[in-house]
Amino acid sequence: MEKITLRTPHHHQSDIFIDTDFTHFNTIMQKINADERSVFAIVDEKVDELYGSRFPFPKMTIKADEAHKTLETVELILHWLMGQGAGREALLLGVGGGVTTDVCGFAAAIYKRGIDCAFVPTTLLAMIDASIGGKNGVNVLGFKNMAGTVRQPKWVFASCDFLRSFSQRALYKSLPEMFKVFLIKGEYFHEAADFFAKNDVNAVGFFEKMQFFITEAVRIKCGVVTADEFEEGRGGIGRRILNLGHTFAHAIEHCTARYSHGEAVGIGLVEAAKNGHCDDIQQIENALKACGLPYQLPGEISVAEMKSAISQDKKNTNGLVNLIVLEAVGKIRMQKTTMDEIIF
Ligand SMILES: NC(=O)c1ccc[n+]([C@@H]2O[C@H](COP(=O)([O-])OP(=O)(O)OC[C@H]3O[C@@H](n4cnc5c(N)ncnc54)[C@H](O)[C@@H]3O)[C@@H](O)[C@H]2O)c1
Ligand SMILES: [Zn+2]
Repeated sequence: MEKITLRTPHHHQSDIFIDTDFTHFNTIMQKINADERSVFAIVDEKVDELYGSRFPFPKMTIKADEAHKTLETVELILHWLMGQGAGREALLLGVGGGVTTDVCGFAAAIYKRGIDCAFVPTTLLAMIDASIGGKNGVNVLGFKNMAGTVRQPKWVFASCDFLRSFSQRALYKSLPEMFKVFLIKGEYFHEAADFFAKNDVNAVGFFEKMQFFITEAVRIKCGVVTADEFEEGRGGIGRRILNLGHTFAHAIEHCTARYSHGEAVGIGLVEAAKNGHCDDIQQIENALKACGLPYQLPGEISVAEMKSAISQDKKNTNGLVNLIVLEAVGKIRMQKTTMDEIIF
């Protein structure tokens, strides 16, 4: 089992545990349950069907999709916590993918003006991204993450065993988010690309190696968050570096429902590399291709549609697009650019 402690300059701390299999999981959950502190779990209903018995806490299940990542769901959680008599000392545990951890983190941040939360992420994306770094949020009027806070979970326990219930294809769809952090740091990208291209979920030692890559991805994200917890930037790129590929990804997601977020991020990474005049574009494309992932803007989206979608990006300032570009593996730059200067 690996442990990474995230400590921010604002004296917030989060302990992140990453494990391969369920060996320690049940013992740890039982121990947490035996503690004096009361734990209330919010569990993705699909995860509850598959793994419900592993969580010995009072629990409420929620539908985990974007349509339910709303203030209404948060309100239902607050009603349930009140009905359970949860006090300010209670811990709210979010069990599921990024939808569940985002909703749960937000509910914990506002219940009785804030109680502690912790996460058991059960998707690859939640393990390397959504459960780490304290950002939470809900969609409002269909707009993604319009309301939320930044508040670190007390702890996160990621067990790779949860990933066994995904098909190879479903699991690999989130790989671009992992490639993203490795490209940012300039470490493990080639190793991970090679490993995931040559192996599949049935390969011996697959989940052990997955644990290694998850741990390193978490370590890199923690490093970025430690330096800039609240995305203040302070003149530098700060936490915004994690948006690599995302300006394009969000635009693609706006224009078509064909791709998952992770797949759109993969295409976005190639676009970010093009705009940074990066020599490694071919290697990024090859990595995505070898993992069965898309790497080109889909033909059905025109450049005009992409531009129109990018013009609505939350990060734009004074009519300029704040684009995070990849100059080389490990070399990122933020570029203020006009729409016409963007290369597609
Ligand atoms: N807070 C952050 O920093 C941050 C970062 C990245 C993404 N996010 C958010 O995360 C969300 C996406 O996260 P996600 O991809 O985990 O989506 P998700 O939570 O919707 O989960 C994806 C699907 O997998 C199912 N699922 C979960 N665990 C499973 C398991 N072990 N086996 C089988 N099925 C399982 C869910 O029921 C759901 O149908 C988005 O809402 C995004 O905005 C937040
Ligand atoms: Zn993302």
